[in-house]
Amino acid sequence: MPADPAAAQPGTDPFAWIDEARERRRSAGLVRTLNPRPADSDLLDLASNDYLGLARHPEVTRAAAAAAHRWGAGATGSRLVTGTTELHAQLEGELAEYCGFEAALVLSSGYAANLAAVTALTAPGSLVVSDAGNHASLIDGCRLSRARTAVVPHGDPEAVHKALDAAHAEPDYEGRAVVVSDSVFSVDGDSAPLAGYATACRAHGAALLVDDAHGLGVLGEGGRGALHAAGLAGDRDVVATMTLSKSLGSQGGAVLGPAKVIEHLVNTARTFIFDTGLAPAAAGGALAALRLLRREPQRADRARAVARELHRRLTAGGLSAVLPDAAVVSVRAPSPEAAVRWAADCRAAGLRVGCFRPPSVPDGISRLRLTARGDLTDRQIDEAVGAILSTAPTA
Ligand SMILES: Cc1ncc(COP(=O)(O)O)c(C=O)c1O
Repeated sequence: MPADPAAAQPGTDPFAWIDEARERRRSAGLVRTLNPRPADSDLLDLASNDYLGLARHPEVTRAAAAAAHRWGAGATGSRLVTGTTELHAQLEGELAEYCGFEAALVLSSGYAANLAAVTALTAPGSLVVSDAGNHASLIDGCRLSRARTAVVPHGDPEAVHKALDAAHAEPDYEGRAVVVSDSVFSVDGDSAPLAGYATACRAHGAALLVDDAHGLGVLGEGGRGALHAAGLAGDRDVVATMTLSKSLGSQGGAVLGPAKVIEHLVNTARTFIFDTGLAPAAAGGALAALRLLRREPQRADRARAVARELHRRLTAGGLSAVLPDAAVVSVRAPSPEAAVRWAADCRAAGLRVGCFRPPSVPDGISRLRLTARGDLTDRQIDEAVGAILSTAPTA
């Protein structure tokens, strides 16, 4: 076979292509860098996912530290070997009960929970119907599942109906279908039409799998989540995934659903079986945060109210932002470079905000992404609005 002149030659740098990729990123204004944050900072933080301000709540940090002292810094093994402690079992029981599901399974991250749920519920010959706005971890779950995936337009139950209908015409379709969607979409903060998706699923005998990463702690009575709010929690055909790293201020993920689904995951989900159990400190911290939320359910209401107030004042100030359904407030920027500059200017004005650029935004529109934390004071809201409006790019 003749040698490919473009192929690597002996002695050449096998990573030379990385330099070219880096240069392409640089000229498109898409370079990302890691910026370690100090433990204490004067910046007002609207960039984290700490929706309820619980990550540094003394009850939560004390519980995390106590769990590490009692159970060790790590879980010491996979959940099926030595990695399950009493804390994991308590957390699973209380989380399922609070959110209205029969059972729960805790994993080492929300990412792992999504991979586990999608892959365990599907097989080659299944159909996955996936909302076009879904989080990367659901998308990767679809890829790993080896099932046929139909990506449907964002927030469109009719398109879900059609995709489920069309499945029967596929020669290799074995009759098992799952519809997967975020409950609240991380880019724009809008919410999925869960009732419409459930109706479409039920018309076709499909399961509904919802990633409630941004709904837990914010939506539903006492922050029980989007599925609880939609009256779908605990239904026999509904499965939820969650992260413990946002409203619960800790780390880790969970799958919630009928007990037989959870038992199936314990036996088949590779990101559960072949992964070290969640660190005891993270389990203990999340459990303390969940108990705090049960005791102080108004925290969830406040997060939603802060989001609406930020939206109201920023749009009144001339900015373009989607009406938030939960606690994510997304403000459009004219370009990736403008978004980066705007975020830097906010920082100089004392405010830390998130900055979403391609490839994290499916429509290519860059945004500032604000977390409407439930623990913000009215004065902090004033400061945040002032900093964002005074640094906004001029059209
Ligand atoms: C919608 C959504 N799902 C899943 C995840 C992943 O969760 P974790 O960070 O716990 O892996 C995130 C964010 O981090 C998310 O925003």
